[in-house]
Amino acid sequence: MGIKKQYAEKRIKELSEELRRHNHSYYVENSPTISDFEYDLLTSELATLEKMFPEYLSKTSPTQTVGSDRTEGFAQYRHRFPMLSLGNTYNIEELYSFDERIRKMTDGPVQYSCELKFDGTAICLTYRDGMLIRALTRGDGTIGDDVTENVKTIKSIPHFIRFAPHASDGVPAEANLFSSPNTGHDHQEATLFTTQDSNSVTQTEAIAPPADFEIRGEIFMPYEAFDRLNLQREEEEETPFANPRNAAAGSLKQQDPAIVAERGLDCTLYHILGENLPFATHSQALSNARSWGFPISEHSALCNGIGEVIEYIRSWDEKRKFLPFATDGIVIKVNDLALQRKLGFTAKSPRWATAYKFKPEEALTRLISVDYQVGRTGAITPVANLEPVQLSGTVVKRASLHNSEQMEALNIHIGDWVYVEKGGEIIPKITRVELSRRDSTAQVPQYPTHCPDCGSALVKREDEAKHFCPNSDHCPTQIKAKFVHFISRKAMNILAGEATIEQLFERGLISDFADLYRLTKEQLLTLDGWKERSAERLLESLEASKRAPFHSVLFALGIRHIGETTAKMIVSHFKSIDALMAATREDLLAVDEIGEIMAESILQYFADPKHMEMIEALRAMGLRFEAEESAGRLSDALEGKTIVISGNFSVSREEIKSLIAAHGGKNTGSVSKNTTYLLAGEKAGPEKLKKAEKLGIEIIDEETFNKLIN
Ligand code: IVH
Repeated sequence: MGIKKQYAEKRIKELSEELRRHNHSYYVENSPTISDFEYDLLTSELATLEKMFPEYLSKTSPTQTVGSDRTEGFAQYRHRFPMLSLGNTYNIEELYSFDERIRKMTDGPVQYSCELKFDGTAICLTYRDGMLIRALTRGDGTIGDDVTENVKTIKSIPHFIRFAPHASDGVPAEANLFSSPNTGHDHQEATLFTTQDSNSVTQTEAIAPPADFEIRGEIFMPYEAFDRLNLQREEEEETPFANPRNAAAGSLKQQDPAIVAERGLDCTLYHILGENLPFATHSQALSNARSWGFPISEHSALCNGIGEVIEYIRSWDEKRKFLPFATDGIVIKVNDLALQRKLGFTAKSPRWATAYKFKPEEALTRLISVDYQVGRTGAITPVANLEPVQLSGTVVKRASLHNSEQMEALNIHIGDWVYVEKGGEIIPKITRVELSRRDSTAQVPQYPTHCPDCGSALVKREDEAKHFCPNSDHCPTQIKAKFVHFISRKAMNILAGEATIEQLFERGLISDFADLYRLTKEQLLTLDGWKERSAERLLESLEASKRAPFHSVLFALGIRHIGETTAKMIVSHFKSIDALMAATREDLLAVDEIGEIMAESILQYFADPKHMEMIEALRAMGLRFEAEESAGRLSDALEGKTIVISGNFSVSREEIKSLIAAHGGKNTGSVSKNTTYLLAGEKAGPEKLKKAEKLGIEIIDEETFNKLIN
């Protein structure tokens, strides 16, 4: 029996919504909540359903678009050539079909370039007349973020191209110098060039770099730099990055290039683009790029036919564990550029390349016990306590079991031997039980019927996977967690920690958010260890938090499923809490980013009179419940930026100046080395332009300025 249409429609919507959420966590927040493997599984489920029911395939489906990394605070530019993604598989068999599809398009044998798939963040560099002029992130594939200044701090990326035109000058000979794949013998190490042994290869004169081209690759963080960074973050009580990819992507999006410079990022490049490039093959393009001083991986190899490709993959499955940086697979590309052109692209990826991805590493250990944790929304998460075991470089002691269904599906018993795997988060998860090693004393864990904290009977809704403690207003753990969320940096940014919340709560000084703003110095001074200064600091910070923009307040309220970004989108759509409270289900669903689940959650939140009462109290205390469009500071987008303006704009210069101030920037009269941007309008002063150019200061136009403050 086929899959019902109705089910397919619903599931396609669900998967699309879920994948969009994961895209945001991955590309914008740099903190994924699932592993790449699970992500790829969801994507392939969606693709299969869309294939069976093409009537539900939308152009904006996550299978048709690449996730976007576009971030506020960076100028954005259109890519000259779209920046696509790659098809992928975990299955060797599928590589044979990939090869078959390609062989249908050509007569002769096919040569493939096999390369490591570096696990970092994609970058596109533009060189003009030998000079690096721009570095863009992938963005949404069409428009990327300008991270040039940050990229310039990466030592392996040349600002200027060196070119010595004769092979005899020590320039590696061109092309062809890919050797055959490494089959495990060290003396056969596959490298891109074999420059030492110039007799065995055809020396051809190196090709000069074109006047205008793009070169793309990956910015990554080697393990050593990653460990150093995380150690430092832990010391400073900041959340460590889950993996080197997130660390690389997060670092590249720092506003201050000086910070980027300290992060130890590195780069590898693997794709050259431009009009009429003088190359016949991909390997030739890369060997030349290498001779121009670009960082090109030494681990690539040319493979004759799919058999050699598979040998290459097998040899790296083990060897990659000894590399000083993270890789998540092998990229296989048709080497002949004419054949590449013939094969072309789908909406999302080239037909001439694919990625074989390695399955995540796993470790075997024993389950000692299960704890049941209560979260801010009352959701119960079972967490496994494990016998400590080594996994991809760290010791694992705990793992998430997600929910009761997951535990049942795993058929997990206390005392079982279990496999753990690292997902996107730091906390790993249990993927399966080694049943052959279960002994007769192993016990099924008893899922609690009552909240381990407040004792309320747990509830489980049909359509949700987790159990919930329904006592959201009185369960101590939930309330404390809600406060911790409320004060957090991206919410109200109140300078206090979990310990302070604990103290205030235990003393009965806070039970809803409005109580925080009722605290007095006298009350604070009665708390253990509190002095005049610490009390004043907290009160000052509470006062300052009243100026937090509406979207931060909305996020701080902790409405289920409303994350930081959703809160921003809701605010830009509804403008005020009154409009949001008045919104019907239809009004909510009309907003692109709001699906059924979010709409339901918002309606439920505002249906509770206690919440309405608290919001009114907070409003009376001066918190913002409206999008600020004119008065006061609009954003921190230009915080720390000094801007000189010159020329005429679509609005008056006075208006531009007040916009700069409203977004936290500083306006000065003349260009100096301290200037961040020269904002040049029509008929901008040539002197100012010249000076800015000489000092390497970025010149932006009104459109870019508007994007910066948007
Ligand atoms: S080629 C149109 N080669 O993996 C061809 N990509 O999952 C695009 N990646 O978007 C890419 N190592 O960010 C290529 N040797 C390699 C790569 C590589 C890592 C990344 C790249 C790409 C992503 C796809």
